[in-house]
Amino acid sequence: MKRIFSGIKPTGHLTLGNYLGAVRRWVEVDQHRADALFSVVDLHALTVEHDPARVRRLSRQAATLLLAAGLDPERCTVFVQSHVDEHARLSYLMECVATDGEMRRMIQYREKSGRAQASGQSVRLSLLTYPALMAADILAYGTDEVPVGEDQTQHVELTRDLAVRFNQRYGHVFTVPKATHPEVAARVMDLRDPTSKMGKSHENGAGIVYLLDDADAVRRKVMRAVTDSGREVVHDRAASPGVANLLDLLAAATGGDPAALAGGYASYGALKKDTAEAVVELLRPVRERHAELAADPGHVDEVLRLGAERARGMARPVVDRAYRAVGLMPAL
Ligand code: TYM
Repeated sequence: MKRIFSGIKPTGHLTLGNYLGAVRRWVEVDQHRADALFSVVDLHALTVEHDPARVRRLSRQAATLLLAAGLDPERCTVFVQSHVDEHARLSYLMECVATDGEMRRMIQYREKSGRAQASGQSVRLSLLTYPALMAADILAYGTDEVPVGEDQTQHVELTRDLAVRFNQRYGHVFTVPKATHPEVAARVMDLRDPTSKMGKSHENGAGIVYLLDDADAVRRKVMRAVTDSGREVVHDRAASPGVANLLDLLAAATGGDPAALAGGYASYGALKKDTAEAVVELLRPVRERHAELAADPGHVDEVLRLGAERARGMARPVVDRAYRAVGLMPAL
């Protein structure tokens, strides 16, 4: 059976981008067709400035939302990254295989370190080595496929390179994984700034739909989405990114094709209205289920405890093998 691994970082409230680019597919497809693991990758949240209490709160909220969205702990493994030591253990070996140059070339590092410096903050070393930890997350489980949004492609490519290099140098230990993306909405754009990605940690939330936004907030944000000065509704990401983004959202929410849907609209207003309602209906069951689950934190804790136990059992032998392969002496 195929092994699937993916993760989500508790650096902010989960967004519609997270849902359409990743989580929805984990729920609808991946957990049914493979032996799948989904992790709240809290260690990754420490690579930027953070409030410890907030990270703890957001980790629980992210796990609760994954279950609310429909991940079924009977079918897949849901756990918190820091509960399984193997991630940090293997990350160090990945740092020993990766080069400084390839880490510095990562687009996310360049963007995030640039932003930190511009606001007078220092850049944490862990922000640079972030892809080594992500590679460890994936490789520790013998992962075949990594379902992610498009923004993670470069990190998964680097993971492949590291796996191949490790295997060539030290003998075959790691499966070489590949990224998979959804057909529509692999890159959901910010509603107010449709040339940049809808991201959790954007300072200004006006262009971001959060999974826990209520119906009115969703409507307000979609109705105020930036379109452009034209009139015609066409699906053209380069010429009309805001309109294309709305069509992508509508298509993702209703199951249609974005270019074909464009033909049915004579005005931006009507497109926005239908998109808003489609997104409201898409998120309604997730928000309702989240409220139920949040009222029973003991249940979520138990899912995460069992998930970590299962994950540990899978990762341990792989990481032990990697430790032996590089020449480390087995513990006596
Ligand atoms: P993160 O937490 O930023 O995002 C989680 C998932 O959501 C996808 N995503 C989007 N997809 C479409 N449009 C968007 N606007 C959008 N924003 C986010 C992301 O592509 C991702 O699939 N580095 C990862 C977390 C990670 C991970 C891993 C993922 C750590 N280790 C191992 C896979 C395997 C990240 O920051 O995702």
